[in-house]
Amino acid sequence: MRGENKAMIEIKKDIYWVGIRDWSLRHFHGQELSTHRGSSYNSYLIKDEKTVLVDTVWNPFSKEFVDRLDADVGLANIDMIVVNHAEPDHGGSLGYLIDRLPSKDIPIYCTKNGAAIIKNHFHREDMNLQIVKTGDSINIGKYDLVFVEMQMIHWPDSMLTYVKGAATVLSNDAFGQHLAGISLFNDEIDTCELFEEAIKYYANILTPFSALIKKKIEQIKGMNLPIDVIAPSHGAIWRVNPMQIIDKYYEWAQDYNEGHAVIIYDTMYNATRTMAQAIARGLEKQGIRYKIFDLAITDFSDLITEIFKARAVLAGSCTINGTVLRPTAGLLEEIRAHRFKGKLGAGFGSYGWSGEAPKKISASLEEAGLITPLAPLGFKYSLTEDDLKQCEEFGENFAKEMKQGKELIS
Ligand code: FEO
Repeated sequence: MRGENKAMIEIKKDIYWVGIRDWSLRHFHGQELSTHRGSSYNSYLIKDEKTVLVDTVWNPFSKEFVDRLDADVGLANIDMIVVNHAEPDHGGSLGYLIDRLPSKDIPIYCTKNGAAIIKNHFHREDMNLQIVKTGDSINIGKYDLVFVEMQMIHWPDSMLTYVKGAATVLSNDAFGQHLAGISLFNDEIDTCELFEEAIKYYANILTPFSALIKKKIEQIKGMNLPIDVIAPSHGAIWRVNPMQIIDKYYEWAQDYNEGHAVIIYDTMYNATRTMAQAIARGLEKQGIRYKIFDLAITDFSDLITEIFKARAVLAGSCTINGTVLRPTAGLLEEIRAHRFKGKLGAGFGSYGWSGEAPKKISASLEEAGLITPLAPLGFKYSLTEDDLKQCEEFGENFAKEMKQGKELIS
């Protein structure tokens, strides 16, 4: 088994981590998202007058998870379950857990959307689903559980549970990272590693919902809740300066960029690569920093993070069968789906006869909401000295647009 987990770990008085660290995970959401540092499925147990389990773990770990709960807590001692989010990485063990509990009638607190998803996942009628909404609370002894709906952060059912009296936010996907770390706590993990995974998580999973996230953070801040600990359902628990990740999310949710360009090329015989390098020289002449990526050999999820951090995306592909190369087609669809805001874009590429790729790239970027100030640039076969000069000029002109174009950015 790849979990290799310790027993329960206290994260705040009376609140324990009872999750799974998945050291071997290298892709998540099927093969969609790379997870170079593994992940964790953080389930929590609150021991008050009532004993409450908040979230479960991904179903490949159901038996290990429930066996450990039984050994450490005793399944008969669990009084209620909270499902902050029913995606299988958190709700996947719910059915197995219910089957193992002595009382099948245990209350399961979730949102209305959560109840619908649980029913659609498990197709059973014997779960005692109790629907809660923002502001609802349950007294469990010393503490109250206060629920806040977090719709689309990450699914329609998502919510967070605030443990009032312990100043602890059990935030589920929000503020998490795919990281099986050396420690569970943010102050004991390398800061670069932690934030590299946190921004990758945001860029790849949450970017389309940025407008909702901004509003939600304003709502949460407006509630003036004391917060000592933010405990997400993946990766590190923020127990030192927990507000730093909320502040980061607020920054990332507002058309975030770090001012530089990314040049992404897809090439068959290096002509489009040569164009990319010449365009880069043009950017450099105008003082614009850039990174260059060979699309065919670059991890897609890492590339989405790089695009998230960039102010501009210059994408190039040669033309094949009247269109772009396959990786470029995937990239353009990803850019469209992520609904990036406030970025400039451009298309370029070499071709043999019909030369559709640069135009298709430029049109796709524009359709995705990027501003494309320059006409797409294409050249036939290998490049002449004059062609290369034009590529450099293209880079320079694009750089000028980047420098003067703040007002163009919506
Ligand atoms: Fe970690 Fe949306 O599940």
